[in-house]
Amino acid sequence: MTLKGRNIVSIGDLSRAEIELIFRCAERFAAQPRAQTHLGRGFQLATLFFEPSTRTRLSFESAMNRLGGAVLTVADGAQSSVSKGETLSDTARIVSGYADVIVLRHPAEGAARVAADAAGVPVINGGDGAHEHPTQTLCDLYTLGIECGRIEGLTVTLYGDLKYGRTVHSLAYGLALFGATIIFAPADPALAPPAYVLERLRDEYGVEPRWWDPNDGTPMPASDALYLTRVQKERFSGNAGLREYPRIDKATLRRWGVGEQTVLLHPLPRAGELDPELDSETRSAYFRQAAYGVPVRMATIALILGIAEEEWASGWGARRTSPPPVPAASPEEPQETSFRAESQRCANANCISNREGAVEPRFKRVADTALRCYWCDTLVPAATPATVAPASVAPAIVPPLTDAVIAETHALGAAQ
Ligand code: NCD
Repeated sequence: MTLKGRNIVSIGDLSRAEIELIFRCAERFAAQPRAQTHLGRGFQLATLFFEPSTRTRLSFESAMNRLGGAVLTVADGAQSSVSKGETLSDTARIVSGYADVIVLRHPAEGAARVAADAAGVPVINGGDGAHEHPTQTLCDLYTLGIECGRIEGLTVTLYGDLKYGRTVHSLAYGLALFGATIIFAPADPALAPPAYVLERLRDEYGVEPRWWDPNDGTPMPASDALYLTRVQKERFSGNAGLREYPRIDKATLRRWGVGEQTVLLHPLPRAGELDPELDSETRSAYFRQAAYGVPVRMATIALILGIAEEEWASGWGARRTSPPPVPAASPEEPQETSFRAESQRCANANCISNREGAVEPRFKRVADTALRCYWCDTLVPAATPATVAPASVAPAIVPPLTDAVIAETHALGAAQ
């Protein structure tokens, strides 16, 4: 098993065994964070951030510095040549000539896949719009493993803005991969997870989440952890949807019947929804969760660069004089199972294929009547069979969706 040269665009790009390898490696780094500076010597990490960030960018940069590598950073994408009209694909190609691995954060869903398909070096998704944030999930799962002693068999309630919260989408897939029970608790019905998340949970992981309505007076189902999130105000278009939700403090948790043993997680930043009076409680793990970002990202970078394996095999004692060359990967072709559908566009206005003219719409078939956007996963009804490319490039048949999800995809298409 090797992660060398791999992209991490979705948490679904990693198997459970690969995530466990990252965690074993992270444990080593957590134990001796200042003893690894020989590993990454000669390597460069580029952080390209087109959206604000504190934790993700700085913990990636701290991780690379602690590995002894160097960091190139674009902290404000508006300062890059994208503001002159350069495409994301060109930017990714150019930066591939300067760095050995790229971390990208971008406001459009699907941007990381575009960059990964174009880049000649591995791309790590540091958050693409409301879509996914896979390395936050690595931190979340790692924290659960430490706080609860295991991940498999846990019950985790995910609360808040589950529609636009990208950390929640990736975490739901990650929990499903580890055999945990997921309880979705949207702060408002308008903030329920998108249909594509439910479809992927069902189709790829065989998981049916449970639901809890935090507003109907019923107690929260017994949970090992409660994952809180802020409302993603910046992703609301127009006035649609709820902008704020109630502050969560000790009284709220008592009212919800949240047990004293339930671990409280939050990807942070908080925006008023999480009362600081909870910070000093043992069950509040969110600052520890943020700090684990460094060893987890050290492990992720080291495994992707292929600089951890040798160290691992030699009992972490070897000293390297020069880094092994990373073979220049040729730009990845879009996966075989995706195809172009004539005159069909993604229904998500914020999909990179609708935001950047150079990105062509691509789809995967998920049922006879529905397609999934290759870039952002949004489900769209297939207009007519004639719009779909020949069967030779069509994906394998997958189990049909439930009527409810298909109805939702039609509603989505109609709302376009
Ligand atoms: C999250 C993000 O950017 O999606 N922050 C993070 O990376 N820890 C959560 C958020 O912004 O709400």
